[in-house]
Amino acid sequence: MNIQTPLFKPTALAAQTADAIIRFEAVHKAFPARQGGAAVTALEQIDLDVDRGSIVGVIGRSGAGKSTLIRLANGLEKPTGGRVIVDGVEVSALPEPALRDVRRSIGMIFQHFNLLSSRTAFDNVALPLEVAGVGKAAIKARVEPLLELVGLTDKRDRYPAELSGGQKQRIGIARALATEPKVLLSDEATSALDPETTQSILDLLASINRELGLTILLITHEMSVIRRIAQKVAVLEAGRVVEQGDVFDIFTRPAHATTRSFLGSATGRALPPSVARRLSADVQPGSQALVRIVFRGHFASEPVLAQLSRERGIEANLVAGQIDEVAGKPFGILNVALPAADATLASALDYLRQRDFDVEILGYVT
Ligand SMILES: Nc1ncnc2c1ncn2[C@@H]1O[C@H](COP(=O)(O)OP(=O)(O)OP(=O)(O)O)[C@@H](O)[C@H]1O
Ligand SMILES: [Mg+2]
Repeated sequence: MNIQTPLFKPTALAAQTADAIIRFEAVHKAFPARQGGAAVTALEQIDLDVDRGSIVGVIGRSGAGKSTLIRLANGLEKPTGGRVIVDGVEVSALPEPALRDVRRSIGMIFQHFNLLSSRTAFDNVALPLEVAGVGKAAIKARVEPLLELVGLTDKRDRYPAELSGGQKQRIGIARALATEPKVLLSDEATSALDPETTQSILDLLASINRELGLTILLITHEMSVIRRIAQKVAVLEAGRVVEQGDVFDIFTRPAHATTRSFLGSATGRALPPSVARRLSADVQPGSQALVRIVFRGHFASEPVLAQLSRERGIEANLVAGQIDEVAGKPFGILNVALPAADATLASALDYLRQRDFDVEILGYVT
C-alpha cells in the first residue's frame, strides 16, 4: 500500500501517549416521548475514553445505544447530561456552525456505505472536499492518493452500482479520510459484508490506524471484529457500559454475563451440546466435575494435564478446548472432567491455580 504522508498529519508517537482524543463524561441521552409513547433513555452514565491513536471497539446488542454514542461523538446528537469532548473541544456545548468544522475533523463510515449512486467513486470521495470549497486541482491531488490507499485506483470512474460491497466500503473509507480527520467513527461498517471481505476491510482500517496514527472508534455486534483490530473494548447493554478494558483481559476474563454471551463460542467457551445437556449444578453419584481452565499468554508448551497426573495422581479428561490468539497474545481454554470427590477436586484446582491458570467449576456431568 502506498501512503502519501504529506496528505496526512499523523500524530507523533500516537500509540504511546495515553491522552483521550474522545472523552465521554457521565453522558446521559434521553429521547423525548413521542405521541402516546414513553421517553427513551438511550444512554446512561457513560464514562469512556478513546486514547489518541488507538482503536476502541464498542459492542452491544440492537438498541443498546451504540449508534447514539457515535452520533454524540460527532455532534449529530446532544447529550441530555454530561459532556462529550473531542480533541479538547466540548462538542456537546458547541453551536451548530462550529460543529460543522468539528465534523470535518471526524470521519465516519456506515453499514450501508451511504454512497451517492449518481456519482462515480472519484466524485463520492471528492464530495466532502467540494462541500468544503476545495478547488478542482487540490481535490484531484487529494482524491487520487486516497483511491490508491484503498486499492481502487482502477475503479475511479465506476458508479456504486458497479462496485462490490467491499469496494463500496473502501470508497466510504476514502471519503471519510478526505478531510484529514483526526478520528474515524465506524458504525457497523462490516456488518453487511461476508467474512473474507470483512477481514480485508478490518486489515485496511488497522493499517490506516497504524500508519497514519488515526484514532478509530468502532461499533459492532461481533466480538470477532473487536478481537481482530481493537486494543480496548466497552460492552454496552441497555444504554450502560457494563464492562470495559483491554481486549485481551476482557476476552480471557469476562466479568459480565453480557460479555460472556457475546464471547459465546468464539473462543472455545461453548461446550459440545451433548455435554452441555448433561451439565448439572449438583454432584450425583459417579459424576465428574467439569472444569474450565483458561491459559493466558503462556501455555502452549506446558503439558499441564500430564503434570497434574504425574505430580498429584489426578486424571483429567479433555472434553473440549481451543487454543487461540487475541490482541496478538496467545490464550487457550480447556474444558476438562475431573474427579468430583472433594479432596481430589480441591487438590487439582489448587495445583492449577498455583500455576496461574484461571479455573472455574462449570458444573457436574455423569
Ligand atoms: N431519534 C430517536 N428518537 C427516539 N428514540 C431513539 C432515537 N434514536 C435512537 N432511539 C432509541 O434509543 C435506543 C438506542 O438506539 P441506537 O440506535 O443507539 O441503538 P443501536 O445499539 O445502534 O442498535 P442497532 O444495533 O440496532 O443499530 C433505542 O431504544 C432506540 O429506539
Ligand atoms: Mg445502530
